[in-house]
Formats: sequence, C-alpha cells, structure tokens
Amino acid sequence: MLYSLNHWLMLKSFILSKQYFIFDAFGTLFKTSNFDEALQNLVGAKANSLVETWRTKQLQYTWLYNQMGTYLPFDEITEKALDYSLKTHQLKDNGVSELLLPIYYSPRLTSGAKSLLEELKRLNKTATILSNGTPKMLSNGIVQTDLKALIYKAISVDTIKIYKPDPQVYQMALDELQADKSNCLFFSSNQWDVAGASSFGLDAVWVNQYQQVKEPLPYGQVWEVQQLSQILKFLV
Ligand code: LAC
Repeated sequence: MLYSLNHWLMLKSFILSKQYFIFDAFGTLFKTSNFDEALQNLVGAKANSLVETWRTKQLQYTWLYNQMGTYLPFDEITEKALDYSLKTHQLKDNGVSELLLPIYYSPRLTSGAKSLLEELKRLNKTATILSNGTPKMLSNGIVQTDLKALIYKAISVDTIKIYKPDPQVYQMALDELQADKSNCLFFSSNQWDVAGASSFGLDAVWVNQYQQVKEPLPYGQVWEVQQLSQILKFLV
C-alpha cells in the first residue's frame, strides 16, 4: 500500500502514541492453519471442509455458551468442535486429532509476529495477549513460540468465563492492564473480534492475513492491514 508522506507520518504518530498493544492469539499471533499434506493423506478431499467446520463450530460454541450464560473452557470447546466436524464429515478420528489439536497446544507464529513484538519491546511498549484460550493454552503457546520475553501478560477470558466478543472481555483487559481505552491498540485477524473490540471503543487493527471480504458488522475505528509486518514499517 502506498501512503503519502503526511498520511504515513500521521499513522506513525498514531501508533507511537499508544502504550498498550493487545493481540488476539489464535489466528492472529498463532497460526490456525498449519496443517498440510498430512491431513490430506488422512482425510483426502474432505480436509478443507473438515477444518473449516471445526473452526466455525469452535467459535459458534463460544458464542452460544455466552448466550446461554454458561461456560466450557476453550480447550474442551476446541476438542468437541473437532469431534463434531469429524462426525459430520462421516470420518473416524484415525490420527486426525493428533495432527490438528497441536495447532492450539503447540502453535506456530504467523508471519511478522515476532519482529513486531521485538520492535514493540525495543520501544518500551506493552504487548499483551487477550484470548479465548485457557491460561494453559496461552502459556504453552508463549513458551513454544519463544515469546516469553516479549509478552507482558497473557489475559485469558477464563478469568471471567465469558467469551469474546462480549464487551466485558475487553473491559477486563483494560482492568488487568490498568489502561485507558485511548491508550490501547487492539489487533485481530478475526473480524468479529475486531468488530467487538472496536465497538467497545478500542482502536483496532484488522490483520486481514487470510484475504477475507469485509463482513457487515458494527465497527468502531478500524484500520485494515494485510500482515502484521505492515505495522512494523511504521515503527522502525
Ligand atoms: C482467540 C481466538 C478467538 O485467541 O482466536 O481469542
């Protein structure tokens, strides 16, 4: 994307004016699509549809649990959603869970995540995770991806047992960080999460790294980038 010098300077000072950089975990910092031929070998042509249904159901269940005022931790939801997806595709597990669940238990980083977090650290900014993941999933992820020195705090919805995009989740992050809304920038690749955070009043960045079409949801102030590395360009 090309920016005029004025626009570029404006965005740079906008980013640098923030202290708290709050990141969604799965799909944003951590890859949710790092499966490949191995899955094709197990389930053939059903691979894409299996994963798509899994992710859709996983998220749908979090919203339904919220709506019903009940809670099941995200690791259990993730496993139940995979089980449902297998059944609905008339597949037996036969090694599929063993292949797919590590996406959530020992994740890999998305492109540009590490360098951005390193630069934020160098600038003395506070980088935080705000995720539906359980504390254990998040601490595993942070250790696996070697982010320990770069993430100030991993905040899990498990504290209040309510999933995103309920406004109480974004408020909890502010409370835990003792931060004002105006001092935060929220990052997610999930549009519904960006809609939730920005409607709550956080300035948000939609990291559209999966080239999705914009969904007609309620949004506050949102800035779209294709990759996390685009943000880095404004910092160095
Ligand atoms: C998270 C999921 C929703 O990390 O991506 O919160």
